[in-house]
Amino acid sequence: MKKKLNKVAKDTNLYLKKFILMQKSSELLNPMKYGLLPGGKKIRSKLIVDVGKIFNIDYNKLILIGAAVECIHAYSLIHDDLPCMDNDKLRRGKISTHVKYGEATAILAGNSLLTIAFEILSQSSLKVEHKTKISLINLLTKCSGHSGIAGGQYSDLKFEGKKQSLNKIVNMQIKKTGKLFSFCCVAPIIISKKSKYINLFDSIGSKIGLLFQIADDLIDYSGSSKRAGKKTRKDSKKGKATLISLLGYKNTVKYGDKLKLEIFSKLNKFGNKTKDLKDTINYILIRSK
Ligand code: IPE
Ligand code: IPE
Ligand code: MG
Ligand code: MG
Ligand code: MG
Repeated sequence: MKKKLNKVAKDTNLYLKKFILMQKSSELLNPMKYGLLPGGKKIRSKLIVDVGKIFNIDYNKLILIGAAVECIHAYSLIHDDLPCMDNDKLRRGKISTHVKYGEATAILAGNSLLTIAFEILSQSSLKVEHKTKISLINLLTKCSGHSGIAGGQYSDLKFEGKKQSLNKIVNMQIKKTGKLFSFCCVAPIIISKKSKYINLFDSIGSKIGLLFQIADDLIDYSGSSKRAGKKTRKDSKKGKATLISLLGYKNTVKYGDKLKLEIFSKLNKFGNKTKDLKDTINYILIRSK
């Protein structure tokens, strides 16, 4: 699994570097590259490749889509670390983008990473029908904005210091993290035109994203800062509404294990081709243990 993840990460980074080299030079490019390239696991790209494998989609197309997603993800992390949000000074084992370049530059570099994702997807070198391309772009806008990452981040901050119901926490986490994972699982299906599977993989993607956020919260609770590349044990200090804050550590681990089985049962009908995807899902939980 680690080997395959590393290959996807390497190919995604290569693609991104090539794409950035084609850009007109600008002073925002350095802070953009700083937040985008080094250190990220590129697990979202890996999921796109894993689902693409089930539906026999060309690898290079999947890497291009992964590159777009990683730009949006990097933007969300740069903004997430700002003093007005989580106020974190360490990211991917280095000082956060706003500490290195200043807040205004970090905000603008984040904005530029968000838009460059759509520049990547709308290129003519992504050889899919126009209708398909528009569907991909349309879905990615929804997963990134008020009904996705931005909306979830809004709730995450509003919930600080307040007790929330299980439902509210789960919905917030599905928005802030799950929706982008959902895009990763649905994008290969949009390309394959097997539209009858879209709803199923939308739901699988949301659940994998929720599982990923739960694992991230477990790592914050008990993981080492060195291994995570970011400060840990911060969520409880900030009063973040997480499943751990509501259910406790042990029950959250149980919740995650159950969620994983639920996801696996949805994948069973696709047989052996889901092996890589299942390995990635297992890896998400193993990292937190
Ligand atoms: C961290 O995401 C933020 C969450 C959504 C929990 P990752 O753990 O995927 O971050 P990188 O890209 O590997 O740094
Ligand atoms: C971030 O969640 C989710 C995003 C959409 C950026 P966290 O705030 O828990 O992510 P980390 O722990 O800072 O990486
Ligand atoms: Mg946050
Ligand atoms: Mg954070
Ligand atoms: Mg976290």
